[in-house]
Amino acid sequence: MFDSAAQAAARFAGEEPGNVYARFTNPSVQMFEQRLATLEGTQACLATASGMAAITTTCMALLNASDHLVASKALFGATVQLFTSILSRFGIETTFVDGTALSAWKEAIRPNTRLFYVETPSNPLTEITDIQALSDLAHQHGILNVVDNCFCSPALQKPIEFGADLIIHSATKYLDGQGRILGGAICGPHDLLKEKIQPVLRTTGPTLSAFNAWVAFKGLETLGIRMQAQSENALEVAQWLEAHPKVQRVYYPGLQSHPQYTLALKQQKTGGAIVSFEVCGNEATQRANAWKVIDSTQLFSITANLGDTRSTITHPATTTHGRVPAQARQDAGIQQSLIRLAVGLESPHDLIADLEVGLENHLTPITTNLTPITTISETRLSQLRQSGWHAELIHSQLFFGYSRLNGFFEPVRALTTAFPGKFWIFRVPELNGYWAQLGACTALGFTPGTCPQFRKHFLKIQTFGSHILFYFFHGLNFFRPLGELFFNRVLQLHEFRSTQCA
Ligand SMILES: Cc1ncc(COP(=O)(O)O)c(C=O)c1O
Repeated sequence: MFDSAAQAAARFAGEEPGNVYARFTNPSVQMFEQRLATLEGTQACLATASGMAAITTTCMALLNASDHLVASKALFGATVQLFTSILSRFGIETTFVDGTALSAWKEAIRPNTRLFYVETPSNPLTEITDIQALSDLAHQHGILNVVDNCFCSPALQKPIEFGADLIIHSATKYLDGQGRILGGAICGPHDLLKEKIQPVLRTTGPTLSAFNAWVAFKGLETLGIRMQAQSENALEVAQWLEAHPKVQRVYYPGLQSHPQYTLALKQQKTGGAIVSFEVCGNEATQRANAWKVIDSTQLFSITANLGDTRSTITHPATTTHGRVPAQARQDAGIQQSLIRLAVGLESPHDLIADLEVGLENHLTPITTNLTPITTISETRLSQLRQSGWHAELIHSQLFFGYSRLNGFFEPVRALTTAFPGKFWIFRVPELNGYWAQLGACTALGFTPGTCPQFRKHFLKIQTFGSHILFYFFHGLNFFRPLGELFFNRVLQLHEFRSTQCA
């Protein structure tokens, strides 16, 4: 309400500061905007009704007919739809590229390219793009780099520090953090936001409601602590999944097996709380297997949303990415076997137990084939060295203690002499994750069924990609015969082959 007609006129004319009309001025919305801008380290922020409203408004404000944008192929499904089915109707063309290949972005640039658009980590495969490198490339060509920071939130990643121009949020996700509201935001420099984007928002009206703004800014108060705790839980779940026999592949930036692990740690504080994984299965059974695992969970909520403190589980191929044409989905690597988890604040042990039900009870086991050897020869050792194996000492006390007792048995001595260091890592190019572990256990004479118990008490085996790390933590008396058995046999792991589960 205005005090007078004159005041109303002055407010509308922008001559007097103050609230005008809730589509474009509201104190709760402004408070959310100020707080999010502070967290992102940007000069300004504009709140929107949803994440999609933020993306659409940005594109409408910054692109004209016959402009061009380059986007990563690894995007949320509705964003792909916006670019391919809606912006295209207004004469705006999009080229999709491999988001991780800077050269692909470079090649896609045209004289009329105005924007780069990237999600990092991407939904749902957690692909990481080098924000700084992409921003530098964009700026060399007068292009704006727009980064969707939904998966990390400013608690884990601040794209502005890596040169991004605009940062997009779905406040529906981690900013609220409890699945209560729809909301979105655009963060960036004052002039771009106030002069270019705000007039479009004001006129077209995808405004954040005052109530949702209040919920979202209360959510921001716990953002840091939630993101930290949820990331820790996610890492534990991801590590467990990676070692599971019926899991084909895990996508989590906090795992060393993630292709951009080092980059992720450079621009993110943690791996985040989204973990995606593929269950085993052949072409005919992949979807059914994924659905069985999803339907067997009780703790996870089956939903398309993410970012809640309650863990959620999603089948991207038939939900969030269901409208993406099959070929484009395939190109983006989203298989029917893929499940996306947004890990919440529950105990990771409970979450693991919940996932185990479906994986254990509903998917048919895998067969194995291992050919052990009895000794390692010098020739074999040099072959291994040439093909990239290396071994180092991890637990110096154990290994030094061992050597004090009796000297290393032959294969260990040969390997440690060849590759001195702090811990043991073997690279087995043909194996990955669970297969490496299963191979190691089988080499020691344990069946896949008894191996987990065995591992719990005597031996920790971690795998990242095709690297296996062995860490023995039991007494030397036990270790010695076991170690001999192990090292004598495990070196033939490359003979080990996996078969698919049904
Ligand atoms: C990465 C990403 N960006 C944007 C959006 C869109 O957000 P909203 O659902 O709030 O419109 C989503 C939604 O899942 C998302 O995952």
